[in-house]
Amino acid sequence: MDVVVAVGGFPLWFRKTFVDHKQKSPTNLPPLPEVPGLPLIGNLLQLKEKKPHKTFTKWAETYGPVYSIKTGSNTVVVLNSNDVAKEAMVTRFPIISTRKLTKSVKILTHDKSIVGVSDYNEFYKTAKRHMLTHILGPNAQKRNRVYRDALIDNTSDQLHALFKNSPLEAVNYRELFQLGLFGMAMKQTFGEAVESIYVHELGKSMSKHEMVKCLVTDMLVGAIDVDWRDFFPYLSWIPNRDFEKKIEHMGMLRMKVMNSLVQKTRKQSASEEGLQCYLNYLESEEKSLSEKQIQLLLWEVLVATSDTPVVTTEWALYELANDPKRQDRLYEEISRVCGSEKITEEKLPQLPYLYAIFQETIRAYSPIAIVPLRYVCEDTELGGYFVPSGSEVAINIYGCNHDKNVWENPEEWNPERFMEENSDTMELHKSMAFGAGKRVCVGALEAMTISRLTIGRLIQEFEWRLKDGQVDDVDTVGLTSRKLHPMLALIKPRK
Ligand code: HEM
Repeated sequence: MDVVVAVGGFPLWFRKTFVDHKQKSPTNLPPLPEVPGLPLIGNLLQLKEKKPHKTFTKWAETYGPVYSIKTGSNTVVVLNSNDVAKEAMVTRFPIISTRKLTKSVKILTHDKSIVGVSDYNEFYKTAKRHMLTHILGPNAQKRNRVYRDALIDNTSDQLHALFKNSPLEAVNYRELFQLGLFGMAMKQTFGEAVESIYVHELGKSMSKHEMVKCLVTDMLVGAIDVDWRDFFPYLSWIPNRDFEKKIEHMGMLRMKVMNSLVQKTRKQSASEEGLQCYLNYLESEEKSLSEKQIQLLLWEVLVATSDTPVVTTEWALYELANDPKRQDRLYEEISRVCGSEKITEEKLPQLPYLYAIFQETIRAYSPIAIVPLRYVCEDTELGGYFVPSGSEVAINIYGCNHDKNVWENPEEWNPERFMEENSDTMELHKSMAFGAGKRVCVGALEAMTISRLTIGRLIQEFEWRLKDGQVDDVDTVGLTSRKLHPMLALIKPRK
């Protein structure tokens, strides 16, 4: 019966999707430019490379900064310049704030139960307030400084030890920093960097390494897994159990590990009065959250903290290892300001070149390349075009950060572009990497501090050089523009 309804409804659907939509534009605003695609599937085949941010940026050269595409039966408005992106994120935020989740993200976030993909509602406001108060706001960041200092000291100590043991062997910086950062995130959420956990429901122990895989890397890969029904919502009634089972299994493993970490911390808190951590804070401040919501909010801190600073610092060190002149310039700046002392957070404001390197890295590599899709709730306009209600909106941050009208040679990694004397120009050239408006990144302060301190300290202590064969190895993977192959670099302690 369902099949008959679907097939019988096809001509009507086709008319609605490809014909009516164009006719709906009111006369006073032009319709959006459209990227030509195929009937039924629209532009899906042109996007199969899994790097939509790059394809969108290329299309902007032909169709302009705002255009529409078809992903199956969905109309997606793609925004590729700072002006239109800000128009959507700030001016028209009330109309374009609802999230449109894919099936995998919906499953993994228990239908919007974390800050990052929640709609703009009471849950969002409460959860974000707690996150800022305990983890990411300026006061919380001051309290958490001890964890950051330990992270940087440990990273540096481990690199020195690696060099001492095998001076000619290239180091895999990512592996080492990722584990350290995850440990720091655990201290913030659970009060300690848990080295291993017995997961009762799985009947086995997990090392820190396995926890990173289960709670962070697998989740980021799962989040971009595609269910074909995302593109054909009218066929959602057709089961796709293999896909659902795979994602549900990932989500279930994650919840079991989170549950064990929560139970362990609760036991510890009962015996150790005054244990300061996000779990204890949430339980004492917010009685309305369910157990599942608490576990997901804790998980969000783990996954958000442990990823983008790794992506950013790895790309920055990759560029510096490949560019001795710029590496020397940064080293000289740090030496001039810090002398023989180790770089500290107090010194960061006096290190403009380090800041420029950070800014240029998040511009060029845009760790969050496309903002999670939003949904247009009523007819509106963007960039002077009519945008019908029901469209999805993809804000291509990578595209904004590679807009040739704003950035000279956008493909080039050139930190000097952020060193211009005139502060107005600097403001104008600020990248869109952290987003804008009410949903601007709440972790920007933490990300900036950790990334600058890590890059600064590792350049202060070591000379970096890429292992042979690493030059031009700039491919990315996953939700957050991670380097496809980990950087392998030769390091030499400076005198
Ligand atoms: C260089 C590093 C980072 C970059 C480039 C980045 C980028 C972004 C962007 C573009 C958004 C906006 C998404 C939107 O408009 O929907 C965002 C939101 C968010 N970021 Fe970051 N982020 C970084 C680091 C972090 C860190 C370290 C954390 C937390 C520990 C974090 C937590 C969040 C959260 C919770 C949101 C959602 C905010 C909201 O919806 O109100 N981010 N981030």
